[in-house]
Amino acid sequence: MERYIDMHCHILPGVDDGAASMEETEKMLRIAYDEGIRCMIATPHYHPRRGHGHPDILRKKLTLVRKAAQNIDEKFRIYLGAEIYFGQDVPEKLRQGEILTMNRRNQVMVEFSPADSFNYIKQGLQQIQMAGYEVILAHAERYFCLVDKFELVEHIWNMGVNIQINTGSITGDSGRKARQFVKDLMDQDMVFGVGSDAHNTENRAPRMGKAAAYVKKKYGEAYMKKIFFNNSAAMLRKIKSESEG
Ligand SMILES: [Fe+2]
Repeated sequence: MERYIDMHCHILPGVDDGAASMEETEKMLRIAYDEGIRCMIATPHYHPRRGHGHPDILRKKLTLVRKAAQNIDEKFRIYLGAEIYFGQDVPEKLRQGEILTMNRRNQVMVEFSPADSFNYIKQGLQQIQMAGYEVILAHAERYFCLVDKFELVEHIWNMGVNIQINTGSITGDSGRKARQFVKDLMDQDMVFGVGSDAHNTENRAPRMGKAAAYVKKKYGEAYMKKIFFNNSAAMLRKIKSESEG
């Protein structure tokens, strides 16, 4: 069976609009494991309304989720990151350790509102880069400006921003436009990594198998492994930035 890393999911219980309880977390872990997911980066929202748990609380929840994962398979790994909704205060809060990076590395995953303008998105990404972080743009297929004009996502990619896409968009669950857009991204080898963006056990469950099978068939096994495992694995292993001590 293939092994995948889910780099974007809301698996921590009771911290955002993802898993509501430990019971739901456990069910999501089981679904993920059965899909072939062997490592998950829990990315709770840092968002004014959807959740902004303090890092200390998130780390405590991580410990619980790690134990639950080990009950399924002792090699089932869970790491901690965040899905950061961009705001002007984000660079400073990252520096102060009030917002989490991906597995305490130098990468941060950032999201915007779907209807935000290209200039706002571009400037937000630049601000975080200038603060010294590598940026991952969460679910790039969700931003209207990028989907409507492919050269704009090329511009962002040329800035050195890593592009994350959701499995549901590969399989067509997010509509035809999103599906075409993620295909175009894969055709151009512009995708850094894939995540389930799971929130629950039903309509937004941690599924990756079907999307991976599609990518393997259409783009080959090496490419599938690159965006479903290898790039995320390399990120998890990267050395901590100096500023984190
Ligand atoms: Fe998310």
